[in-house]
Formats: sequence, C-alpha cells, structure tokens
Amino acid sequence: MDLFEYQARDLFEKHGVPVLQGIVATTPEEAKAAAEKIGGVTVVKAQVKVGGRGKAGGVKVAKTADEAYEYAQQILGMDIKGHTVHRVMIAQGADIAEEYYFSLLLDRANRSYLAMCSVEGGMDIETLAVERPDALAKVEVNPINGIDAKKAAEIVEAAGFAEDIREEVAAVLIKLGEVYKKEDATLVEVNPLVKTGDGKILALDGKVSLDDNAEFRHADHEALVDKSAENPLEAKAKENDLNYVKLDGQVGIIGNGAGLVMSTLDVVAYAGENHGNVKPANFLDIGGGASAEVMAAGLDIILNDEQVKSVFVNVFGGITSCDAVANGIVKALEILGDKATKPLVVRLDGNNVDEGRAILREAAHPLVHLAETMDSGADKAAELANA
Ligand SMILES: Nc1ncnc2c1ncn2[C@@H]1O[C@H](COP(=O)(O)OP(=O)(O)OP(=O)(O)O)[C@@H](O)[C@H]1O
Ligand SMILES: [Mg+2]
Repeated sequence: MDLFEYQARDLFEKHGVPVLQGIVATTPEEAKAAAEKIGGVTVVKAQVKVGGRGKAGGVKVAKTADEAYEYAQQILGMDIKGHTVHRVMIAQGADIAEEYYFSLLLDRANRSYLAMCSVEGGMDIETLAVERPDALAKVEVNPINGIDAKKAAEIVEAAGFAEDIREEVAAVLIKLGEVYKKEDATLVEVNPLVKTGDGKILALDGKVSLDDNAEFRHADHEALVDKSAENPLEAKAKENDLNYVKLDGQVGIIGNGAGLVMSTLDVVAYAGENHGNVKPANFLDIGGGASAEVMAAGLDIILNDEQVKSVFVNVFGGITSCDAVANGIVKALEILGDKATKPLVVRLDGNNVDEGRAILREAAHPLVHLAETMDSGADKAAELANA
C-alpha cells in the first residue's frame, strides 16, 4: 500500500524523524484555518499518490492564510496525471538552504535493502540517476542490521555530505531506517531532505510504501487505506479473503491456484479473438479449499460486475476434489438464487472428476454449461459473452 504524503509525515513524526507541522484540509475554508493555526508562511500541497506534484502546480507557497485559501481552491479538484486532488496538506514553510535526496527500498534481486542518497535532491531523481549517476550514492543495507550508526556514516560519506552536517544527517537516516523496519515498509523516500538556514535537517516530503504481507503485524495500518479509491468489488473480495483483481473484460474467471487462473486468463483472451475480442473480466483465485461458501462469495462478486456477460469456472480438483467443488457450485447457485443471471461454463478435471460432472448434470441448472476441456470451456465462455 502506498501512503499519502501526510500519512508518511505522521509516521515519520511517530518515529522521531524531524518534520514540520502539516494539517490536512479538504476545503479552502479548512485550508485557511490550518494556515492560521500554523501561522507564518505555509505550503499548500496536493495529496495524490503520484510524483511530480510540484511541476504540475500542486505545491504552492502561501504567505498568508488568505493565500492558502486561494491556493487550496486552485489545487483541490485539480487533475495530476490522472489523479484527482481531494485533499491538500497545509505544511509549515521551511527556510531551505539545501535540498538532498534519500531513499531506502527493498532490493528483491539482491535479497537486501538498498539506500540511495544524493546531496542534489529536490529535482527529478530519475533524471539525476540517468544523467549523472555518480551524484547518486547507492549503498547496500543488510536487512538484519538495518541502518545502524556505521551504515548511516557510510551512506553520508558515499553521498558526499559536508563534514559539518554529516552527523546530523546520519542521525536522521537512522530514524528513517527505523520507520522502514518498524512499519514493515518496502519504500521510504524523502525528496527533499533539507538543511534549513539555521542548519537543521528536516524531511520535507515523504513517500512510503507498506508491505501488505505484513499487515497482520500492524492493526493500525488498516486506518491508512484510502477507502474512496478502493474498487468496491476488490474491497468486498478482500473482506472474504479472496484473491481478486478487477480487469476490463467481459468473461468472469474463477479458478483454483494462481497459476491455473493466470493461464485461464490467457486461454480466454486467446479464445476471445474469435468472439468479438471479448476479454477476461477479472482474476479470481478461490484457493485450495473451495467450499460452497467460498464459491458463492466468488460468484457473487463476479456476477455483481456489470461488465461481466459470462463466467468461466476452471477448477482442477486436488485436495478439494471435483465432487466437493461441484457441490459448492450447486449450493452457491442456490444461495444466490435470482441473483445468478449470467451463463456459467464449468470445466472440472482431476480428483473425482466423474462424480463432480455427474453432480452438475443431475442438478441441471439452466445457467450451467459443462465443458470437457479448458480450451473448449474458454471458447464457450467467450462465445456466450459475445452473444
Ligand atoms: N514545507 C515546505 N516549505 C518550503 N518549501 C517546501 C515545503 N515543501 C516543499 N517545498 C518545496 O517544494 C518542492 C516540491 O515539494 P515536494 O517535494 O513535496 O513535491 P514534489 O517533489 O513536486 O512532488 P513529488 O515528491 O510528488 O514528486 C520542494 O523541493 C521544496 O523546494
Ligand atoms: Mg518531492
């Protein structure tokens, strides 16, 4: 999960990273009140999960609270690279002497963390990395140790910080390393990290991505989810512990096992070429124990997708045998009743396949079509979606 800047700021503050005051506002009135509360110069900052806000006009320095009102009015509702601005953060203005760059991220290929740091922050770091790679220090960080005093010293040295601020920058990097570790992040980026006129080091902007696989350790991370941006079907799937990703096509897909579901998407997309170019409508892996309840929850989600015209259930019976899956489908259709309105192509194979097919034939549900093979099932589902 990627966080908004204001959420990253809050996490930084919690772990002792030096930040300035920041207050979220959703209306110009709130922005003005926040600017009055903070006092002095403030910065009105668009809160969107995309880079380059400044260049797009989403970061504006306000000298007075009335100016904060005006800028908030301009920025709220603005579109930045396809992201609508629903909130701004009113940040206390900093007296910037120098801008630096720092990030710590998960380096999967090397099974370690990677710290990147530059004394030339503020600008577009991707450009810096390409045009003058020497100006961007890259230091491997052992995940067990994280950023300890020794590692922090190595990073500030590699980045070429001036002697007189090395110690203070290093102290901030240690804190940012703690944010990374204690919050189970996969990215902590600060651009710019600044030195103020009176020589203080501050994190003026923050990007944090949290590792969703660690959410069981962080009950408080649930509150950081941006519900308004969540796809309602994906949210519902999550509530039911289903692995569901909404796609843009017309053929709903249910399978067991991520690999089988992925190849089902491919086969359906291929079959769709012969049937008006229909495409898979989703990824849905119901996992190993496909009980009737899980099948019903999965079908319910897919049938609620208005784009879906037909559904392809492609299950390989393993530990959960085909008869259990077939019973699951029959019961799921009973549970759904009138809510089930779209044709369902079912292909079963594997453990107890004959029993499974017999159960579906006997139930003879008018919406269910049995397929012998994965290819023929995909073809039938595509044909029905195009009908
Ligand atoms: N609180 C602040 N006080 C003074 N200047 C600020 C403050 N926050 C940001 N700025 C200035 O605005 C510039 C852009 O801000 P920021 O880094 O937050 O956004 P951005 O880099 O454009 O957006 P993104 O990080 O999404 O690419 C900074 O480099 C800094 O010069
Ligand atoms: Mg920035």
